[in-house]
Amino acid sequence: MPDDTLPTALVTGATAGLGREFARQLAARGHALCLVARDEARLRGLADELIERHGVPVHVLRADLATPEGLAAACDAVAEHRIDLLVNNAGSSLGRFFGDAPLADEDHQLDLLVRAPMHLCHAALAVMRPRGSGHVLNVASVAAYTPRGTYSAHKAWLTNLGRWLDIQYADEGVRTTTLLPGFVRTEFHERMGVDPADVPRWMWLSAERVVADALSDVDRGRAVSVPSRRYRVLATVARHAPLGVVAKVARRGRMVRP
Ligand SMILES: NC(=O)c1ccc[n+]([C@@H]2O[C@H](COP(=O)([O-])OP(=O)(O)OC[C@H]3O[C@@H](n4cnc5c(N)ncnc54)[C@H](OP(=O)(O)O)[C@@H]3O)[C@@H](O)[C@H]2O)c1
Repeated sequence: MPDDTLPTALVTGATAGLGREFARQLAARGHALCLVARDEARLRGLADELIERHGVPVHVLRADLATPEGLAAACDAVAEHRIDLLVNNAGSSLGRFFGDAPLADEDHQLDLLVRAPMHLCHAALAVMRPRGSGHVLNVASVAAYTPRGTYSAHKAWLTNLGRWLDIQYADEGVRTTTLLPGFVRTEFHERMGVDPADVPRWMWLSAERVVADALSDVDRGRAVSVPSRRYRVLATVARHAPLGVVAKVARRGRMVRP
């Protein structure tokens, strides 16, 4: 049952990387949590850690968001827990270019990076609009500003939707922040099967930093959050430089492992 005395956040992709860090920092801020991902053992391990350290209620939902059943269960949890903050974070990327990867893999990515956050945003609005309060935090990527295959296209879609959601529903008390991180040290590149050795050290951010900046931008009611000055400069350049140049630079971090 939801705990009405605490704000409740639902975080997707909470077993690793940015999602796990969102869970940790939100628990430290006194949020009750609903954590969603596929690996139940890891979810339970994190829940135990957060309950012990911060004394907040933590609910665990094992769900594959790329499946209709898993996505429906997560949307039900948004309603059941009367979520105050939705963090649409779960994601992955293919280590192959569009045209080389099987279409079934592309469909999976579309389901995970587009359909899942779209359904969850819809479920969140249904809870938040009648209440007149709530916040959606969509984790996109600075890749949204670059031409880099379907991954950047999905993140551009999420960015565009999020910016519109904030304009449309801010007056009703529902805010949306779109997070656009650069390279972050997580399990993302390893899971993708690529070697990011060609990414210079200065381009890497820590998950702790990205999440702290994102939550501070949520507090400030910012529609778009780009953690670190260096990525704010790069994002501005990416939006104005010739596409061919941006595409070449954006190939970094995509060296397929032998
Ligand atoms: N790392 C970067 O450089 C970077 C940069 C920009 C944006 N991002 C974005 O940041 C978000 C988080 O990525 P990350 O870097 O933290 O990656 P990560 O360390 O690989 O974590 C990904 C998380 O997503 C979950 N997940 C993956 N597929 C799922 C599915 N089908 N259903 C439910 N959960 C699923 C994973 O949990 P399970 O395996 O347990 O399901 C895991 O908790 C993603 O949206 C990514 O696109 C990352």
